[in-house]
Amino acid sequence: MTEIYDFGKTCKGEKTCLFQITNMQGAFATVTNYGCTLVSLFVPDKNDALTDVCLGYETLQEYEKSDGYLGMLVGRCANRIAKGKFSLNGKNYTLAVNNGVNHLHGGINGFSSKVFGFEVKGNTIKFTAVSDDGEKGYPGKITLTACYSFTDENELILKYNAVSSEDTIINITNHTYFDLNGQGSGHAMEQKAMIFSRGITEIDENLIPTGKIISPEKNSPFDFSNLKPLCRDLNADNPQLKIAGGYDHNFVLNGDYDSSYGIFGLRKAAYLVGDDTSIAMEVYTTQPGMQMYTANFLTDRKGVIRKRYTKNAGVALETQNFPDAINHKEFPSPVLKQGEIYSHTTIYKFLTV
Ligand code: BGC
Repeated sequence: MTEIYDFGKTCKGEKTCLFQITNMQGAFATVTNYGCTLVSLFVPDKNDALTDVCLGYETLQEYEKSDGYLGMLVGRCANRIAKGKFSLNGKNYTLAVNNGVNHLHGGINGFSSKVFGFEVKGNTIKFTAVSDDGEKGYPGKITLTACYSFTDENELILKYNAVSSEDTIINITNHTYFDLNGQGSGHAMEQKAMIFSRGITEIDENLIPTGKIISPEKNSPFDFSNLKPLCRDLNADNPQLKIAGGYDHNFVLNGDYDSSYGIFGLRKAAYLVGDDTSIAMEVYTTQPGMQMYTANFLTDRKGVIRKRYTKNAGVALETQNFPDAINHKEFPSPVLKQGEIYSHTTIYKFLTV
């Protein structure tokens, strides 16, 4: 069942809504069409108490004015594009830069701050938005649909589709920060993680991939082949961790393909457990990479229900193509050709262990 509430008007006067999708178990997700943002996600803990496992704000105004992309859909291209420059079909493009000299998450006012059109059907909301030809410097007019479902099995299913009027590049993700101990618990880094990957894309001092893939040694900071608390190696003496002040790296996924959802190319990406609540989350995706970001740059701010968030208040598991892929021939291509369809599915499934 999906209920729709008023979520106020943006500073430009656009009306927004807050949707609550409640499943048969009483668990629920709330989402706004401002940036297709996941505002809260209440799932049962080991004692069956509903626990909000994602960081969010109470008002639209906080979403509009705050950085950090809490819960938002980001794009046209998630993560960084070096110096905002790339070439496609022999033509050079320069994108808006918003992160030092680099382009990050589609630039200021990318998809994360658009008000999406919507259509509700049962436990699914289909959001639609357009990014015009030339917006932020990108070629082609993109029409993006994002279908968000929350199932009776406590699965949050995110399905993205996009078409472009011209050849372009695209990389859509969701930027939710998870704290399975309950949002604002103050010990999100004690969550345990396991990642199905063969390594990370190495970054330089500007957090731009060098092109090299680093395969971690057993038990080293980037080895998540066994479940371990995020805090175990967070401050380890490791050059890659030092650059980012923690984890802020793209993991190259190599998990087993999973046919249970009938979605082509869907594989297991990660597994996260809240040590306090015993809430666990399985992540599945059709994308080749996943940025694990331990909120290293998150500054102190007010969250929901008297909670405060600061550095390391959650972990984002952003399923995506590799950052700056357009400038690395060896990475999977982010090109969306005119007439083709971009499609990406990510599933976050919740259970208790
Ligand atoms: C990036 C971080 C960035 C954060 C918030 C993450 O996806 O990897 O470097 O600070 O988003 O913008």
